[in-house]
Amino acid sequence: MRIIFLLVFITNFLLSRDLFIPLPTDIEYDKNIVKLGKELFNDPMLSKNGDISCMSCHFQYGADPKRFSIGTDGKLGNMNSPSLFNAKFNIGLFWNGRTLTLEEQMLDGPIFAEHEMASSKELIEERLRKSKKYRKMFKKAFGIEPTFEKAVKSIAEFEKTLITPNSKFDKFLRKEVKLNEQENRGFKLFQSYGCVSCHNGINIGGNSYQELGAVIEYNSGEQGWIDRYTHTKNSYDKNVFRVASLRNIEKTAPYFHHGSIKTLKKAIQTMGYNNIGVVLSTEEIEDLESFLKTLTGELPITLQEEL
Ligand code: HEC
Ligand code: HEC
Repeated sequence: MRIIFLLVFITNFLLSRDLFIPLPTDIEYDKNIVKLGKELFNDPMLSKNGDISCMSCHFQYGADPKRFSIGTDGKLGNMNSPSLFNAKFNIGLFWNGRTLTLEEQMLDGPIFAEHEMASSKELIEERLRKSKKYRKMFKKAFGIEPTFEKAVKSIAEFEKTLITPNSKFDKFLRKEVKLNEQENRGFKLFQSYGCVSCHNGINIGGNSYQELGAVIEYNSGEQGWIDRYTHTKNSYDKNVFRVASLRNIEKTAPYFHHGSIKTLKKAIQTMGYNNIGVVLSTEEIEDLESFLKTLTGELPITLQEEL
């Protein structure tokens, strides 16, 4: 009996350690490259009309508070912008994971897309080479004249530093603090209802592709969304998206790839119904929300501090 108890205890211990991992608190990066990347990330000159920067659509804890972002020339996008904080830990990028690295992500999406920056390699290189500031910064970072490739590289290096450590949950995992009663009830529900089967790992999500409406079919509405099927053409990938990371979730409304869910409570209720198959009580939703709020971390240091 004791041995069985011990085995169960050890398995649970190992499982719970693997299921959730705190974000690193110390990050290493090349200051000159990241400084250049940060400057470019915030600079609207990357867009065709000089009106939109990466930051324009990723300024609310790395996400956009609008349902659909507005790109250059006022063009409207067709998916809700996810947070790019902690994105380097995701299995793939975009809601359907169609690119694997942050560099590829930029080339597949924002820089060239008509409804985002509508820019080109030549245009960006030309502008960078005309700028005294950038010529100096490229020299310092890479020892060369500005190139498009190195511009992309430095933005990606900056993105890799956008990590939000020291959330209450991470401190709890490190045994530095305790969750309060309500948070703890929420954490228990998160596990017992099986939210954890999809939302786990270092980003509490972001590491697998699953159906929205895994248990009870979900109607995403009018539009053809860019789901995993668009990328793989496997019929079982219809309405499949990357499991959202729940880090900083209270700060990144609106929710889901379609951005039509405005509150965290409604997002939890929807997940409970469509992805677990239960009608959660008001109290359970409040408890789960209280737990999810412990996932809010500190703003990335490279964003807060002058580099
Ligand atoms: C016009 C708004 C807009 C601009 C400008 C924009 N983005 Fe995005 N970004 C989005 C949207 C919308 C998505 C989600 C699209 C999808 O999944 O199909 C996204 C997704 C991303 C992702 C994927 C995050 C993840 O976890 O999947 C990264 C990384 C990213 N953007 C970085 C950038 C960078 C770097 C720039 C500047 C070069 C930039 N974005 C400019 C709207 C924008
Ligand atoms: C079968 C896998 C699965 C289960 C189980 C699951 N989720 Fe999700 N969750 C997802 C996927 C996939 C998304 C992204 C869906 C989309 O936007 O299309 C998501 C999105 C979310 C979002 C919105 C995130 C955002 O940034 O928009 C919240 C909040 C959430 N889940 C909470 C929960 C909670 C709480 C539970 C348990 C009651 C749960 N999930 C159970 C797969 C799952």
